[in-house]
Formats: sequence, structure tokens, C-alpha cells
Amino acid sequence: MAFHMRLQTKLLVVVSVLVLGVVLVTSGLVTYSQKKRATESTYRLMERDARYLSRRISHNIYNSNWRTIQITLDMALQSNGDMLYYAIHDKDDRILFSSDTKSVGTWQPGCIAEAPQSEESVRYRSNEFTVRELPLSEPVAYKGAPRGAKGEVVFDTCMKVSYIGRPIGCLRVGYSTRELSAHIQKSATDVLAGGAAILLTVIPGLLILIRISIAPLGRLNRNLLLLRKRAETESIGKVLGSVDIDEISDGSTTTEIRELSLSFGALSGMLVENWQQLEAQQYNLEMNVTRRTGALRKANRALLREIAEKKEAEEKLRVKNSLMEALHDTTLDLMRHLEFNELLELLLRRAGGLMSMESGYYFEYRESTRQLYPIVTSGRFEEVPKLPTRIGEGLVGRVWETDRPLYVEDYKTWSGRVKGHPGLESLGASVAVPIRLEGNVGGVMGLAQFGDEFEMEETAMGVLARFAELASIALNNAMMHSKLQGELDERRRVEKEKDRLFQHLLQAQKLEAIGTLAGGIAHDINNLLMAVQGNISLIMSLTSPGDIVHKRGGKIEELVASGSALTSQLLGFARGGRYHVRPESVNTVVKSSLSMFGRTRKGIMISESLAEWLPNVEIDRTQMEQVLLNLYLNASHAMPDGGRIRIETGMTDLDDKLAAAFNLKSGAYVTVAVSDTGVGMDKSTQSKIFDPFFTTREMGRGTGLGLASAYGIVKNHKGAITVTSEKGRGACFTIHLPATAKPCWEDEASPLAIHSGEGTVLVVDDEPEIREVVKTMLKGLGYLCLEAENSSQCVSVYREKARDIDLVLLDVVMPDAGGDIAYQAMKKINPEVRVILCSGYSLEGRAEKMIEAGCNGFIQKPFTMEVLSTEIHRVMEG
Ligand SMILES: Nc1ncnc2c1ncn2[C@@H]1O[C@H](COP(=O)(O)OP(=O)(O)OP(=O)(O)O)[C@@H](O)[C@H]1O
Ligand SMILES: [Mg+2]
Repeated sequence: MAFHMRLQTKLLVVVSVLVLGVVLVTSGLVTYSQKKRATESTYRLMERDARYLSRRISHNIYNSNWRTIQITLDMALQSNGDMLYYAIHDKDDRILFSSDTKSVGTWQPGCIAEAPQSEESVRYRSNEFTVRELPLSEPVAYKGAPRGAKGEVVFDTCMKVSYIGRPIGCLRVGYSTRELSAHIQKSATDVLAGGAAILLTVIPGLLILIRISIAPLGRLNRNLLLLRKRAETESIGKVLGSVDIDEISDGSTTTEIRELSLSFGALSGMLVENWQQLEAQQYNLEMNVTRRTGALRKANRALLREIAEKKEAEEKLRVKNSLMEALHDTTLDLMRHLEFNELLELLLRRAGGLMSMESGYYFEYRESTRQLYPIVTSGRFEEVPKLPTRIGEGLVGRVWETDRPLYVEDYKTWSGRVKGHPGLESLGASVAVPIRLEGNVGGVMGLAQFGDEFEMEETAMGVLARFAELASIALNNAMMHSKLQGELDERRRVEKEKDRLFQHLLQAQKLEAIGTLAGGIAHDINNLLMAVQGNISLIMSLTSPGDIVHKRGGKIEELVASGSALTSQLLGFARGGRYHVRPESVNTVVKSSLSMFGRTRKGIMISESLAEWLPNVEIDRTQMEQVLLNLYLNASHAMPDGGRIRIETGMTDLDDKLAAAFNLKSGAYVTVAVSDTGVGMDKSTQSKIFDPFFTTREMGRGTGLGLASAYGIVKNHKGAITVTSEKGRGACFTIHLPATAKPCWEDEASPLAIHSGEGTVLVVDDEPEIREVVKTMLKGLGYLCLEAENSSQCVSVYREKARDIDLVLLDVVMPDAGGDIAYQAMKKINPEVRVILCSGYSLEGRAEKMIEAGCNGFIQKPFTMEVLSTEIHRVMEG
């Protein structure tokens, strides 16, 4: 029994181990192949995912649209729970952007512990895609929800990103390995469960089989045991003799052994049959799988073809779209630039970026030479000599001629190239497009690649042509803008000029009005002074120099002289009085004015620089001296603690523009500049200094008439006086006087003295005091006197006594009619009538005309006995 049991157990164990082994090996193989298949499919899924993302963001990386990239990748992160993090590297593996903002600028997203360069960690590698297995150094979460724990192994993938065929970086995405692990684990469990099920069904069957098969052996064993027991008590022979084999074998021994062998045979047969069935099933299975796989492969191939075609179409569309997008962005930017050359440079840069071509140029067509000239270049063309191109010559000339874009794959071997053009020996791919300006081809824009091989995208040519159209619009805009700007500037200039002229007019009108007033006042004061002066002259002639009355009279004469100086300032300002205009040398006037001013003033140094060979100017010397004296005086007032005055003369030619600035006619002018090192003036003071009565001097010190009178006098000489000054840095007054070719006037003025005479003088004046005093003065000189109080009386007296009257002393302005009317009437009576004009006004207007009409002389009121007698003497003797 024990033997039977042991045998049975041993057999059971051996067979079970064999079956178990077969089951385990099969399960292992199945599990391994399933794991491999699942892993590869996961890699491919990740690759597809990463490729899709990289394409979507490549254009945005190129244009640094980080916001769009972030939205795209965050959406992917949100929709794919296995995606843990992302990062974008540039070509040099620097991180440009990542889901983990802390890590920007470092190699690693913060959650990755191991350096990804380690080759041991690489699990999968294709042309553009790499997968590594790396542990997380920090937990990863998205929107608060944990996605990966610290230490968890992840797939760290890297997909190359290209833009228009050029690598620009890599998109790095981390995926969780959990799903794959779970999948593998589940398949292993399934296989093991299958194995266990097989074992559980096969082992009981085996047990029964073994039991049946070894039952005869058991019985044999039992009989043998019986024999052994009997042999212990009986002799061997007896035992053997008594052993009936049939009895030992229980009568069935041979059959049982046969059955045993049969059973073994059946068992092995069964095993063989089972094995064959298994093999058949496996074969069937494999055949099925092969059949199915074949069909699947076929379908897969078709699908792959379809996908490839679709991808190609998508790729083309994507390139076109990204070019169009870039074109759109570029165009918006271009339209904002309005400076033509600046815009051209920008166009070249943008077109180069769009086409990924490094160098560019713009040729402008010039009608004068009928050639094209490079006016803007970029990249390697900067080093190429800038030579003009003829129409039809080379790429540029042809594009201009045909008005169509042209692409040359390799310029250096192209038959149409300009031979011998230095610098173009290594010029490769080149493209040029016409640029239309104001409806015609105005120039040619080109892009090129030196050296490197370059292949232009199919769609790029169309985009470049579109770009050229937009560039033409932008350039036309810029041209229009510059034209409008020019017109606007011109309009502004005209407006400004108008404004300036208006201001001049206002100033002139203002001065005119004040001038008339000042002239009237000066006239009245001069009449008063005349009465005083006349009486004093009489007193002086009646008294001897030692007499006290004579001395007082002298004082009064001095006061009248300064009163007269004041009225002459007023008259000067009133633009009156170019009494004796003669061609003079400005240098002479400067010298005489300086000697009057006196060179020795306390602390003031005077220097002069007088130009030689200056043309003369037509001036009233006395007035011009008065102007210069005013300037010297002002300069000395501006330098209370001393300083320098410099007088310079020179000559200048004013063209139309310059002359307009001075409000003068163009031509040759003599200049006198008086500069000082005094306190100077700010702009506000400068704008008022020529106004009458403007003064900054303390009350009672200045009248504010000096410069107003200088202005009036210079203006009256058809000249201009201007000032340049800065506060604290002195002032410089410049006078422009029109030059004349006339030679200098030789002065033959006789010295002033009292000249007695004889004859009859008709004194005409509306002021009785003046008539009275002049008559007395004339009588004192030896003349007989007649008088008239207005024009008509003058004419009737003259008509009556023309033969007796030797000279008429005629006032110019009288209430009834002017002296000019009386003069004309007297001239009709006697064309030889001798008339000396006598006026409180200066020699201007009427008086000047009367002199021109033939009057013999002019005396400015108030006048002294010397002046009166000298003038009468000159006229009577002449
Ligand atoms: N060389 C100068 N430097 C600084 N300020 C000057 C100069 N010349 C003129 N000015 C300014 O111009 C003002 C007007 O000068 P203007 O000669 O008309 O009058 P005034 O000198 O003040 O008085 P007046 O000439 O009657 O004595 C002066 O008060 C002074 O403020
Ligand atoms: Mg002054």
C-alpha cells in the first residue's frame, strides 16, 4: 500500500511539476510579448501626441507667442491626465518656457531628478523623438490635483520642433507610466489566472488517470507483500512452490500488467493526443492570427498611406498658414512705418525672416540713367560692391523688365547671372520680386542665401509675391505720407511767414500811429523852443559875453539844445527826417560817432574792426551818428562795472530768403555791428526794446526813445537793425544799410557864424510868437521883413510885392493850406522865387517833396541866429 501510495504521489508530483512548468513558461512568454507590445504602442502614442503638439506650437515658438503656446499646452495638459509637465528648449537646450515656471532658465523642469542626457535612461528613440524613464524629484500637480508623486518614474519625452524645415528647439513632455504598468500587471494576472485554471482542470484528471493506471501495480505490490510475509514463516521453496502466480497476481496479474501497460499506453496516448490537440489548436490559433494580421496589415498599410497623404496635405497647409499668419503680422507692423528708407530696411528684414533667407536688397529704378541702383542691402549683400544693373540684366534687371517674380535655385551656376560681379561667387538660392510704386515698377526687392543649400517651400513663392504687393502698398503709403508731410511743412511755413508778416504789419502800424503822435508833439515843442531860442538869440546878440544876462541866456540856449535833441529823437523815431541824405562811408560815420562818444570812459574799452573797401551808403550822417551814439550809450549803461565795446563794419549779400528774414529787399548791404560784454537781455526784453518809451532804466534816467528812434531812422534809410543777446552774456546790435555805387559826398559846409545881409524877407508862420521873434532876428541881421500868417496871405503878399521880396521863409505846416500850396502859387508868380523851408517837423513828406520841387533850403526849428543867418546867406549868395 505504501509503495503504491508513494509511486502514485511521485508520479502525481512529476506530472504536476511538468504541467506547471509548461503553464508557467507559456504564461511568462505571453506576458512578456504583451508587455512589449503595450510599451511600444504607448511610445508611439506619446510620439504622435508630442508631434502634434510640436507642430501646433512651432510657428508660435518662432514668433515667441508664449501666451498662445501656454494656452495650447495647458489645454493638452488638461485633456490628457497622463501628461505631467511640459517644457520648451531652444536649439542649445536652454529652457525657454515650461509648465513649471520656477524652472525657466535652468535645464530641468524642477520635478525631474536625473539629468536627461543620461543614455541609460533612454527607452525609445526615433528620428525626432526620444523617451527616457526618469524618477520625479518633486510631486507634480495640475490645478491643485496631484498628478505624480515624488520618486515616481515617468516617461520624459523630447520631440524636436522645426519651423519651415529648420530645427528651432525641442518640446519636452512628461507622461505618467502608471497606466502602462497597470496594463502590464493586468495582463500578467490574466495569464496567470488562465494557467491556474488549466492546472486546476488538468491535475484532478491526471490524478484519476494515475490512480487507474497504477492500480494493478498496487495489487501486485500487495500480493508481493503477502508473499514476503509468508516467506518469513515458511521455506522459500515451499513458498515459491506454493506461489501460484495467478493467485499472487490474484488471477489477473498478467491482464493487469497488460492493462497497466495498456493504461500507461492509454495515458501516454491521451497525453500525446492532448498535446497534438493543443498543437492543432495553437496552429489554428496562429493561422487565425496570421490571417487576421494579414488583413489588419493590409488595412493598416492603406490607413498609413492615407494618414501620410493627409499629413502631407496638412503639413503643406500648416506651412502655408504659418507663412500667411507671419505675413499678416508683418503687414500690420509694416503699415505703421512711414519713413521710406527705414521702411525698406524693415521690409528686407521681414521678408528674410518670412522666407528664412539671410540676405536681401532693394534696387531703385532711375529714369535719368535707365538703370537700377541698390539703395538698401542687408546680410551678406552689405559686403558686396554696390553696382548698378541694366534693364534685363541679371536677376534684378529681368524681374524689372518682366514685372514678375523670379526664383533661381543656384545663382552662381545660373546662365542669366551677371558675370564678374565681385562678391556673388558663392551666391546660392535667390529670389526677386517687383515692387510697384505709384502704379509702375519702381524697384526690385530680392532675397538670397549664400553658400548653404536651400530649398524654397512650394507655397513660399506665392507668399513672397503677396508680401511684395503689401510691401508696395506700404511703400506707396510712405511716399504719400512724405509728400503730404512736405506739403504740410510748406503750408506751416507759409502760415508762419504770414504770421510773421502780420506781426510786422501790426508793429509797423503801431509805430506809425505812435510816430504820428510823436511827430506832432515834436513839431509843437519845436515851435515853442523856436520862440524861446529866437528870443534868447536876440538877448544874446544884445548883451556882451561878460554880462550875467548873457551867461543866463547861454544856459537857456543849452537847455533849448537838449530839448531840441529830445525832439529830434522823437522825430527820428517818427521816421522823419532824412535831412541831408548823401553817399557816405560808414567807416567815416563810425569814426566820427566814436570821437563824439569819447573813447575814454571809465572802465570801458572800445575796439573797432572796420572793413576796407566798403561800398558807400546813402545816409543822413547826423541821424546815423545819432543811431550809433544811442547804441554806444546803451552799451555803456549795460556795463556799469566796465567792459568792452566792439564796433565792426562789413558787407554782406542778402539773397531773397535772408532778405525776407530782415524784411528787406535782396541785394548788397553794408553792416555795422556794435557789441558789448554787458548784462545782456532775455528774449522777452529783446521783443520790446524797439518799442517807443520802453526802458528798464530807473525813472527819470531813460526815455525809452533811443532804440525806437534808431529803429525809425534805420528803417527810413531802407535798412534794418537787429539784436542778438543772452541774459548775462552781452548784446550785439547789427545795422544793415543798402550799399550804393555812388562816390562819397565832398562836404563843403561852411562853418556856422552870424552873417549879416540886406534885402527883404517874407516870414510866413501861423504862430505869431515865431513870426515876431524871427522878424526881430532878421532885422538884427540887417534884413527888411514882411509877414504872413497863413498860406493864402503869403500868396497875396507875394503877388503884391514879388519884386521887392528877395526870400521867403516858409513854414511847411499851417492850418489853412500847407506851405507846398503857397510855394506852387508863388512859383507861378515868379519861377525864380527863393524859398527856405522852416519846420518843426523834419524833412520828410511834404518838405522833402518841396525841396525836390525846387525850394532852396530847409531849417529845422528851433534854430539859432547862426543857423538862420548862415542858411539865408547861402541861399542869397548862391
Ligand atoms: N546794449 C544793451 N544791453 C542790454 N540792454 C540793452 C542794451 N541796449 C538797450 N537795452 C535795453 O533796451 C531798453 C531800451 O533802450 P533805449 O535806448 O530805447 O532806451 P533807454 O536806453 O532805456 O533810454 P534812453 O535811450 O532814452 O536813455 C533799455 O532800457 C535796456 O533795457
Ligand atoms: Mg538808450
